[in-house]
Amino acid sequence: MKILILGAGGREHTFAHMISKSPKCDKLFVAPGNAGTGKIAENVALKVTDFEAIKKFVLEKDIAMMVVGPEDPLVEGIADFFMHDEQLKHVQLIGPSKRGALLEGSKERAKEFMLMYNIPTAAYESFTEASLEAGKNFLEKLKSPYVLKADGLAAGKGVLILNDLDEAKAELETMLAGEKFGAASKKVVIEEFLDGIELSVFVLTDGKNYKILPTAKDYKRIGEGDTGLNTGGMGAISPVPFADEEFMQKVEERIVKPTVGGLKEENIDYKGFIFIGLIKVKNEPYVIEYNVRMGDPETEVVLPRIKTDLVEVLEKTYHSKLDEVNLEIDERAAATVMLVSGGYPENYEKGKEITGIEKVEDSLVFHAGTKIENGKLLTSGGRVIAITSLAEDYKKALKKSYQNVENLQFDKMYYRKDLGFDLS
Ligand code: AMP
Ligand code: GLY
Repeated sequence: MKILILGAGGREHTFAHMISKSPKCDKLFVAPGNAGTGKIAENVALKVTDFEAIKKFVLEKDIAMMVVGPEDPLVEGIADFFMHDEQLKHVQLIGPSKRGALLEGSKERAKEFMLMYNIPTAAYESFTEASLEAGKNFLEKLKSPYVLKADGLAAGKGVLILNDLDEAKAELETMLAGEKFGAASKKVVIEEFLDGIELSVFVLTDGKNYKILPTAKDYKRIGEGDTGLNTGGMGAISPVPFADEEFMQKVEERIVKPTVGGLKEENIDYKGFIFIGLIKVKNEPYVIEYNVRMGDPETEVVLPRIKTDLVEVLEKTYHSKLDEVNLEIDERAAATVMLVSGGYPENYEKGKEITGIEKVEDSLVFHAGTKIENGKLLTSGGRVIAITSLAEDYKKALKKSYQNVENLQFDKMYYRKDLGFDLS
């Protein structure tokens, strides 16, 4: 069948790598894609939120399956757009409906959902400009540090963690006035701070059945020792060593089951991935956030460990038959190291030539921000390339990735050399 992947990052290159291996895939397109996806699929210059243009392309090429990578089109309702269109409703779309995507699109909705289904999470209250004073009073009742979250999508930047009460009050005021994250912070969720270690659990669901995918841990901060600004993710490992069987049992019983149960209870059409951001506090799991898609760079370590034909798994998901899938997971660990442009996540330059990829051995190269111009491979984003390796344990996998990183060069290339530092 013909398959279209929406998105342009390392996550989408990884999906393209897995899908293109399937005997079920006759032709693969990625929109808009990058230099890496262009090698194994056909890139199409489409904007992921231009539903009409996507429709035209899907009909023209007779696309049978569409996998939605990023959250924006989901939150804007691409699944509903397909479901309610006579010409598109047969397309097997992997991604939740707009109501499902609200679990990521609104932090307040996510918290209400968790409260409703008794899913462990930090205590919270939400506020608008009209309740600013109440918000300040609520902050006074909490202990430092203070966690302020913009309700809406803010490109992963909408969370502030502040040590000082007065600063927290001032930030609350600027957020609510729309001066900080625009409309996304017209409503702000204030949360109790949870002190623990983070990990991510990925679930694939057809709305009734679910499969828990390998766990992953990403490294979000730009600097070594988890310091400096937040980024999209500087690397990841899978599985997470401290997510042992006992802990995962708790995650499944207290979090995964009630989450999928809640979606079913509310008749929410959800055929896609749920990315559960967790924090482990004294061996107990709490939900930090839901995302309604796979993570990036977590996908770069999670998908390569899945041995079952991914297209078959996605077909079963679409047809609500996930219970028929026997998911085979590679026992080896995976690690990915993200190479970024110097200056990222703030200002950085693009258009730098990347050399040495052909020297990479025994690792997978997933492109993020790359493009081909006049036959040359150039950087075109902050996150440029992820190098994934599989090995007996995460330390060996990391070692392989780091060895291969040495082969690659571009002007002002930067990467974290301490991934996994917090695990041993
Ligand atoms: P989010 O966008 O909700 O994932 O939040 C971004 C980051 O802020 C998370 O990855 C955590 O590191 C941190 N964070 C969010 N909520 C809390 C909380 N309640 N307690 C401690 N850290 C938090
Ligand atoms: N790596 C975090 C995310 O994809 O949101």
